[in-house]
Amino acid sequence: MFIAFEGIEGCGKTTVARMLAEWMIGRGLNPLQTREPGGSELGRELRRVLLDPSRPAISREAELFLFLADRAQHTRDIIRPALTTGRPVICDRFADSTVAYQGYGRGMNLAELEYLNKISTGDLWPDIVFLLDLPVALGLERVKKRLRATGESDEGRFDNETKEFHERIRSGFLEIAAKNPGRVKIIDASASPDEILDKCLSRLPRFPSVA
Ligand code: TYD
Repeated sequence: MFIAFEGIEGCGKTTVARMLAEWMIGRGLNPLQTREPGGSELGRELRRVLLDPSRPAISREAELFLFLADRAQHTRDIIRPALTTGRPVICDRFADSTVAYQGYGRGMNLAELEYLNKISTGDLWPDIVFLLDLPVALGLERVKKRLRATGESDEGRFDNETKEFHERIRSGFLEIAAKNPGRVKIIDASASPDEILDKCLSRLPRFPSVA
């Protein structure tokens, strides 16, 4: 089973993905928890390039191909081999992020992005995508709080884009969900992480327990 978490900044997907992995471990499963960008060795270098605020601006086309290169290597080296051995895979962001961010956010052609996504993944799609949805203001507030707590700088990252950019991404994700109701499940992410996890678990098909 291949599960992806998607959503705007501050939606809590990283926390809930980790909690889902722990839940699975508690049931004797051996999930692979991974993320994009940065899930493969090449991807970790690409992630530094993509998110480093001190670099000169990257054109949206170059940015797109870096995300796609990350996904191509990640799918081939990490995700497919894990699925082949029967491990559940939990991925923090996947192909829908490209449609939401580069398509709805940066204004690139959606049909072209779908085609490029298909090349980069070799047409591998998550069995289920949890779209953790919440208002942009709430998400950005959570990011600010996290940055204050960790003392990290957010300069130059996607968190620094305008509120309108994040609004376009949120509605983009909701449109993706409307177009793919079988694959993408919208989860209200304004609740606590425990409640969000429960909602995700209630949408999962029954898991064979090996415990
Ligand atoms: P990250 O720090 O992992 O953010 P988050 O915790 O919100 O996932 O940074 C990843 C950023 O890259 C995030 O802002 C979304 C963006 N992104 C794209 O623009 N396109 C993509 O295809 C992917 C996978 C991520």
